[in-house]
Amino acid sequence: MAVRKIVKMGDELLRKKCKKVTVFDEKLGELLDDMKETMYEFDGMGLAAPQVGVLKRVVVMEVNNMFFELINPEIIASEGEDLEQEACLSCGKIREYVKRPKKVTVKAQDRFGYEFVLTGEKWLARCICHELDHLDGVLFVDRAEKRDKK
Ligand code: NI
Repeated sequence: MAVRKIVKMGDELLRKKCKKVTVFDEKLGELLDDMKETMYEFDGMGLAAPQVGVLKRVVVMEVNNMFFELINPEIIASEGEDLEQEACLSCGKIREYVKRPKKVTVKAQDRFGYEFVLTGEKWLARCICHELDHLDGVLFVDRAEKRDKK
């Protein structure tokens, strides 16, 4: 395992649409292991592959002491609304309030290609939405709540 370099905001790599994973091989396993180590190293809640410069639909997350790997994730249901401050390992010290669903259900594959369904509420739902956005070139700052200007 190795800690990879994190791509920072301003880099075009973070603005690309990532490709679906079609090969579930050792290289994918290595990417996932490195992403996990990188996320822990920088104390993140989640990390998407484009944040380490790989334009594939791969995400790792750790929420409430549970670790998740999502390959080719797709949100299949969402409900409610929740407003909290978010941050991102690619965006330095920026924190912004972002509106997200309170509950989401995501369909994804594991590192061996097996499909599963995961439902998350509150921070897990938020983390899923934030990381999935990365796969389509969207950053949380794009969704930040507009503050009133006086
Ligand atoms: Ni992020």
